[in-house]
Amino acid sequence: MTSPEVQPELRPALVDVQAVYSRAALRDPYPLYERARSHGEVVPIPEWNAVAIFGHEEVSAVLRSPAALSGQLMAVEANAAAQGQVSEAMQLLRPMMLFHNGPSHARLRGLVSAAFTPRVVAEQEELVRGLVREILTAHQGAPFDLVDKLAVPLPVAVIAGMLGLSKDDEQQFRIWTQSVAELLGGIDTTPELLARIEADAREMRSYFRSLADDLRAKPQPGLLSALAAAEDEEGRLSSDELLANAVLLLAAGHETTSNLIGRGVLALLQQEGAWAELAALPELGNTQADELLRFTSPVQLTGRVLGAPLEIAGQSYTAGTHTMLLLAAANRDSRTFADPDRIDLTRANAGRHLAFASGPHYCLGASLARLETRVVFGELARYPQMRVLEDKPQYRPNIVLRGLSKLMVEL
Ligand code: HEM
Repeated sequence: MTSPEVQPELRPALVDVQAVYSRAALRDPYPLYERARSHGEVVPIPEWNAVAIFGHEEVSAVLRSPAALSGQLMAVEANAAAQGQVSEAMQLLRPMMLFHNGPSHARLRGLVSAAFTPRVVAEQEELVRGLVREILTAHQGAPFDLVDKLAVPLPVAVIAGMLGLSKDDEQQFRIWTQSVAELLGGIDTTPELLARIEADAREMRSYFRSLADDLRAKPQPGLLSALAAAEDEEGRLSSDELLANAVLLLAAGHETTSNLIGRGVLALLQQEGAWAELAALPELGNTQADELLRFTSPVQLTGRVLGAPLEIAGQSYTAGTHTMLLLAAANRDSRTFADPDRIDLTRANAGRHLAFASGPHYCLGASLARLETRVVFGELARYPQMRVLEDKPQYRPNIVLRGLSKLMVEL
């Protein structure tokens, strides 16, 4: 989402909420969330027909409300269309389950979940461990970029492998899914960037379309083949639905997890004693994975449009109101999490975080993300001397999918 420059003559609550959606939020948005929430956990912005929500309880209630509908696509479309031709990209995004509601969402999600089973996910553990060990062993004894060598390639390899895609194309998937991420949360959406995104969308559609045709003719192991065969009373996924949701898995499956790995490592190494605490744990469980998810919130924010009137924190909002849901701020709500700006690897209620959202669009890949987190940090914990060599880590220009672009470390 691009944001207009902050205008000082506007009222303070509006200025502070606007800052959260601006370039200023890239390096460290948390002080900005705190400043904005000083106006309340729920801040009405009538100028935008919107309400910005920072509190854990309130964000969670909106996400679970049947009145709250996925409306992000409209925002992406309006922003992108204002600056360039993005019809291929929109055709790619439109059938993604993320942007559907009600029965149409349930159908798409049902067909994908039927292939993305807990057993398929559990089977990945040994493969993930093998990959992580291979990467870490190869980089022992010399500085390396953790983002480029581990945080990005690992989740891509895992999800591409699950989908049954060719290993030779992994570099291409990195580029393509970066484009999807830039469309969804980039702040520098120039006409040039949109032209590149459009070209990538065209390539993605043609790549997955021909692959799906092949798999329908000749099924192979892997999720994509299972998706091509999946059928419910209303029939199979159409070609557009199949390829859109395969791309969604590919993009959602790595942009987020990569950011969690990079920022999780940095945060643990920056907090005094936290790395030693991690290294001393006999094994890593979901509590530790959840605490890292809570602390880093790889998807910082999302939104819903009200399809019917809804009461939020005692105030009534009409249908059509945009709710701006600050997942990352909710995850640092001191009413829910004691000492929220500290990583506590034994936090009893870490699992209450909203990093995977909640309600009908609750992250479909949550169990895979937790598995990858447990394995990656469990393996990294075998290097108690690990250190960061970066003074000023660089961030990607994305306020929604927040993550590092580079992190030099030594094991
Ligand atoms: C949805 C977070 C990993 C697949 C979501 C949503 C969030 C999220 C917040 C809801 C977005 C919204 O409603 O606006 C994360 C985080 C991850 C992660 C923090 C890792 C650290 C994954 C993985 C996969 C995945 C590994 C799959 C391989 C999906 C899908 C949806 C989704 C398909 C759409 C669900 C729906 O619309 O019903 N994720 N995700 N995610 N995620 Fe994840």
